[in-house]
Amino acid sequence: MPLLPVVDTDPNAVPLTLVTYKAYGSWRDSQPEKLRTWLEAVGFRPEAGNFCLFPTLEGDLGGGIVGLGDGTDRWATGRLAHALPEGAYCLHELVGVEAVDQDVISTWAVLAWCLGAYRFDQYKAEPGSKSATLVWPERADKAYVLGTANAAILTRDLINTPAEDMGPSALAAASQILADTHGAHLDTIVGDDLLTLNLPAIHAVGRAAVETPRLIDLKWGDDKNPKVTLVGKGVCFDSGGLDIKPSSGMRLMKKDMGGAATVLGLADWIMRAKLPVRLRVLIPAIENAISGNAFRPGDIIKTRKGPTIEVGNTDAEGRVVLADALALACEETPALLIDCATLTGAARVALGPELPALFSPDDKLAHDLEASGKDQNDPVWRLPLWEGYRKLIDSKVADINNAGESGFAGAITAALFLKTFVDDEVPWAHFDLFGWNPDDKPGRPVGGEAYAQRALFDVIAKRFC
Ligand code: BES
Ligand code: MN
Ligand code: ZN
Repeated sequence: MPLLPVVDTDPNAVPLTLVTYKAYGSWRDSQPEKLRTWLEAVGFRPEAGNFCLFPTLEGDLGGGIVGLGDGTDRWATGRLAHALPEGAYCLHELVGVEAVDQDVISTWAVLAWCLGAYRFDQYKAEPGSKSATLVWPERADKAYVLGTANAAILTRDLINTPAEDMGPSALAAASQILADTHGAHLDTIVGDDLLTLNLPAIHAVGRAAVETPRLIDLKWGDDKNPKVTLVGKGVCFDSGGLDIKPSSGMRLMKKDMGGAATVLGLADWIMRAKLPVRLRVLIPAIENAISGNAFRPGDIIKTRKGPTIEVGNTDAEGRVVLADALALACEETPALLIDCATLTGAARVALGPELPALFSPDDKLAHDLEASGKDQNDPVWRLPLWEGYRKLIDSKVADINNAGESGFAGAITAALFLKTFVDDEVPWAHFDLFGWNPDDKPGRPVGGEAYAQRALFDVIAKRFC
């Protein structure tokens, strides 16, 4: 478990006052004259995330003011862990925050602090970058913060780890550690056993890599509880296969197991919270590599469920491995089936990095996920599973093609492809997500990122508790 920059108490903690734009003027006017003069001298403006430290009369660090803007930006404290001098701080007062919002602002103050403190520095000569710590605010929901922060950090670490050290076997090892931590059961089906056990699509896509392809299958919780199954795309590196990616497109492809990382983080949170579900996590863990035995454009691949896949493009590998995982998931008719995948560039063209594309034939489930996303400060955006575009992935020689030739609606045709392998009676949602912060934002440093995780936890907790 990562060490979060929070402490239970610290007698020397520097008090921080968080203040909204609206309340700032009258708050400042009620302060001692010296502080008023100081705040004016430095030109402090209480925009979200702005801060100003001030001294005691003796010249020590006396306290700080942090702007909350209009009070709706939950990430206001997201840069403080590294922007403030090292040491302990505490929340002294939330000024201008309505009574009903005090809990959520306190919770988010510490959550944004923790998520913003994250650095991936294990590979540096001197790892362990220092950050300022926060005393647990009294009103913060500690279990929630620990659940979501640890989940996101696990997801980020898995994504940020270079493919050299996060291949299919390392991803399975990380899953084993997670299983051991929570008393879950882990099965891994490796190499030719995929053929014996009828998971031919996973084998076909992953067979060219030096590390053998595998299916990771984690199970946790009472069998009598409702079955919640999470499927994650675990392409540990996506070179594009024989339809090789250009260097710009390949550069970030260590993150092509971002879906797997997202569901493993979510699983950590679900098990930590002991939600009354029977959880299953299925991850086809492969590398899309080039070798003499690589799958080829024009090949026709068998699947577990039956429909054959013509390979239009070996770079549309994710949907092929997910086909077998989703079919296996449906065999026990789960009460909820979710898949997360860094599936298409088209979803990024449509929605950019910050909004995971959500697809579901189930309107209630989609609405619940959108509502939870809004509420949890983890927005998702629904796109249509438009059956009219299914003809774009028709094949003349097989039952379906893995890549449309037209390039139209690439995220939708990928989602329709997956739907082919999901049973109609299973409530299912698919997230096509980016898994990466391309630029620094408060609480969200550049690098691997857990999108849709809080939205998903909230929906699962509300449905099954
Ligand atoms: N992993 C990629 C999708 C991707 C690329 C996600 C960049 C995020 C950023 C996926 O395997 C892929 O290569 N998809 C192709 C599909 C195409 C060949 C039909 C794509 O989107 O270009
Ligand atoms: Mn690809
Ligand atoms: Zn991929």
